[in-house]
Amino acid sequence: MKVTGSNPVPATNLIREKPAGTSIPAGFSHARQEGILRRIRVIGIGTGNPEHLTLQAVAALKTVEAVFVLDKGTDKADLLRVRREICERFVPKPYRFVEAQDPERDRSPTDYAAAVDAWHAARAALYEAMIEREIGEGACGAFLVWGDPSLYDSTLRILERVAARGRLAFAYDVVPGITSVQALAAGHRIALNRIGGPVHITTGRALAGGLAPQADSTVVMLDGDLHFDHLDPDLTIYWGAYLGMPEEILLAGRLGEVGPEIRRVRAEARARHGWIMDTYLLRAPAAD
Ligand SMILES: C[S@@+](CC[C@H](N)C(=O)[O-])C[C@H]1O[C@@H](n2cnc3c(N)ncnc32)[C@H](O)[C@@H]1O
Repeated sequence: MKVTGSNPVPATNLIREKPAGTSIPAGFSHARQEGILRRIRVIGIGTGNPEHLTLQAVAALKTVEAVFVLDKGTDKADLLRVRREICERFVPKPYRFVEAQDPERDRSPTDYAAAVDAWHAARAALYEAMIEREIGEGACGAFLVWGDPSLYDSTLRILERVAARGRLAFAYDVVPGITSVQALAAGHRIALNRIGGPVHITTGRALAGGLAPQADSTVVMLDGDLHFDHLDPDLTIYWGAYLGMPEEILLAGRLGEVGPEIRRVRAEARARHGWIMDTYLLRAPAAD
């Protein structure tokens, strides 16, 4: 774990033990009533453009003394730089910037559920140690979450787990952020759904099994291998990489035609930057 900051203040290390069996309130007003003063803010920061920050996020950043950034190994220097820039611009008082490496995850387990459970347990222990060390009683810290915490992010699940361990009393709230899905739609100037139609959000891994039955608009995230070659070539694809960032790339068209081009552009951009994050929308051909 690495602690830095533009103007670091000493860690206070005050620990407040939570009595066994006490439930953890979710809101700060409850927290105050029950005398729980250690606060955590889970702040969605958008997808790489500091201007994605909402006014609510900017106000929340003014309250924090420590900022936690969890590096998942795939995160690259560019992503860390965005988080640092956000803190330098929007955290007005002295703060600590706490970077930690996420525990390693077994990528080819025989028992998938057990492996994820063990990984989450290790992460909960890490989060608990960081909170305990960096946020004293009466203090406030923040987890900066890429995009929005509600979408393919485990920060909230891990904090629930820390609360359930029952060692630390803390209250937390969530500040929503702009997701890569919204940044994709904005980049292409499209609505995600057809009029009155559903939107299905899924992962590249799940797409390998085909589109969901009746899928009209499908958003695909976490697809490192572009699992779309087996799909109907008459689908329309709206693809975006580095959404919100200066490197942003957008491509759209009939899947059968633009799919190979996306694959080529993606490989080239990935080689140039050393990393890539991309998201796409697949739209079924219009019914006659
Ligand atoms: C672990 S998920 C996090 C999603 C995030 N919580 C959100 O609200 O967008 C990571 C995936 O989000 C998408 N993503 C995140 N940032 C992106 C960006 N700047 N451009 C394109 N896709 C992005 C990619 O599909 C990536 O594989």
